[in-house]
Amino acid sequence: MADDRNAFISALPTQPGWVSRSLKQYQGFWHEEGFIPGILSLQEKFRCKPDHIVLTSYPKSGTTWLKALLFSITNRSRYRATDAAANGNPLERCNPHSCVPRLEVYAASNGDDPNPDPVLVNTHLAYSLLPKSMIHSECKIVYVAREPKDVLVSSWHFAVKLRSKDLPPLTFSEAFDMFCNGVSDFGPYWDHVMEYWNAHLKFPHKIFILSYEDLMRRPVYNVKKLAVFIGHPFTDVEEECGVAEDIVSLCSFEKLSNLEVNKIGTRSWANGSVIKNEIFFRKAQIGDWKNYLTDEMRARMDKITREKFKGTGLFD
Ligand code: A3P
Repeated sequence: MADDRNAFISALPTQPGWVSRSLKQYQGFWHEEGFIPGILSLQEKFRCKPDHIVLTSYPKSGTTWLKALLFSITNRSRYRATDAAANGNPLERCNPHSCVPRLEVYAASNGDDPNPDPVLVNTHLAYSLLPKSMIHSECKIVYVAREPKDVLVSSWHFAVKLRSKDLPPLTFSEAFDMFCNGVSDFGPYWDHVMEYWNAHLKFPHKIFILSYEDLMRRPVYNVKKLAVFIGHPFTDVEEECGVAEDIVSLCSFEKLSNLEVNKIGTRSWANGSVIKNEIFFRKAQIGDWKNYLTDEMRARMDKITREKFKGTGLFD
């Protein structure tokens, strides 16, 4: 069985990876080779329940932020956002990734039963790769999308920090070409966004899409919308007390990135290595791509974006 699976994985199309030696193309999307067994096990054995809330995203699009916000919204009767000052809120002590399990990572070490306890979970899998039980259940899916040039810059910085020391350095220009050619972790980026966009048009009650940029501009408005969508609307009393505002402030980049746990804490990565929590917090700025892309690079990427996202209004 395991031999068959290994043979299947090694026969998949291969390209050089950003972090490790190789990416494998499975069902049209590229994945770190080490994640494929977990993905297969999720597709086969994940049991989705109606009360699951699944945060989905292309990597580096705002997952950490959304994990903190969704955790705070769904757990607000147990932990008040203002408890953070008194160390009573888990976000004060734990990185958001420890509060919300990522399915591929969980499945990498629990392949026989890839079903973590919490109902709030996250995955970077493309829509077409999601376990069938997730598509067919009444669960809610929240997808956060971010402008591709900023995603690329954020992805490159992340990869440089995590890249295996056995590999030659990854230059920005190499990363740019790979990203534009669709060869990136969970990429092609544009297909990832479009699949969720189309699914949202088809099932608007099930799939909510928000952009990193709009969340930056209107955090309280979007947090309230999110709360309604996932079935945890703020009550009149909570509105009066400014609970949504408190959650936005607890989950802000400024607040989270300055917590001790996120400055000096570490966590285990899927491949067994230990990484620093600070790696999930860099600049959190819209338009940081201007510091990295040449005019020619910008034109090439914008052209792809215009073509792929035509008619959606996404990142016009
Ligand atoms: P930059 O690298 O542009 O700074 P992900 O969480 O999907 O890995 O995305 C990481 C990006 O989100 C990084 O972007 C990171 O700085 C930013 N980020 C992390 N926490 C955030 C927060 N609370 N608010 C806004 N952006 C945040």
